[in-house]
Amino acid sequence: MKNVKLKIPATVANLVCGFDILGMAVNEPYDEMEIRLLETPEIIIKHKDSFGLPEEPAKNVAGMVLLKIQEHYHLKNGFEVIIHKHIKPGSGLGSSAASAAGAAMGANIVLGNIMSKDEMVHFAMFGEELASGVRHADNIAPCIYGGITLVKSTNPIDIIPLNAPDLFVAAVHPQVEVKTSDSRQILKKNITLKSAVEQWGNIAGLVAGIQKNDFALIGRSLNDVIIEPVRSILIPRFDEIKSKSLQLGALGGGISGSGPSIFMLTEKKETAEKVAGLMKSMYNEINIDNFVYVSKINPAGIEIIEETELD
Ligand code: HSE
Repeated sequence: MKNVKLKIPATVANLVCGFDILGMAVNEPYDEMEIRLLETPEIIIKHKDSFGLPEEPAKNVAGMVLLKIQEHYHLKNGFEVIIHKHIKPGSGLGSSAASAAGAAMGANIVLGNIMSKDEMVHFAMFGEELASGVRHADNIAPCIYGGITLVKSTNPIDIIPLNAPDLFVAAVHPQVEVKTSDSRQILKKNITLKSAVEQWGNIAGLVAGIQKNDFALIGRSLNDVIIEPVRSILIPRFDEIKSKSLQLGALGGGISGSGPSIFMLTEKKETAEKVAGLMKSMYNEINIDNFVYVSKINPAGIEIIEETELD
């Protein structure tokens, strides 16, 4: 029987203009997860954190992924999972994706590497569906593949791993509640051809900038004319934080996933630290508790910390 300990990165979905298709893994924050294969068929979920997430497998994101894997492979084995989350649920930093992707990768390892990365993405999407009602993979894909990924399609699954530019990420998580389901509900169902053309230009520019390590092109492509104008209303001081971060030298940025976190990309660590300081002070000023993170783009995705064969 095998046991594996994983370090699972937070992720920034959408990357501003690439709604539901682009995402990036970051080094901070991250979750820890330990998975053990059981000889008996039960699925046991335990949390080491204080977020109060459900532990009943069918109501737990990791549990749901494991149930689907168990069913698909007709397993007689079960799993015990110990989750220590540091990525706050509802932060917009891919907390549910970390649980889902960690469960899929952990199960794959203890089962003897029976799945491809795309198969892990497939199972992890059931966890995202449980959390947000939608089977999107823009957080899961970078978590599993590392770096920046393009979800070309989820049916069939077609993930394109892109380059992981040598950039810093400053992010703030203000403690205001924005549910993914609500922030999807408020989006316009129809868009004009004019804004679609503008958005296609930004997405194509961003992908080209990422592949060419052209930081100026990345910066001027981090522009969203469709989603951000609607969602940013839910995030206090969003416009001010964005414009002041750009003045401090950030390349660009915007809402992380469905929010409320905001992220900015920078070339230098010093700039990321200044931006993080600005983000913190702007929320402190209006008495909104917040967490800030400065890290790099994570090129590798989920990391195996320890793998043991148990008797
Ligand atoms: N692409 C998703 C959204 C990410 O923006 O709603 C949130 O999980």
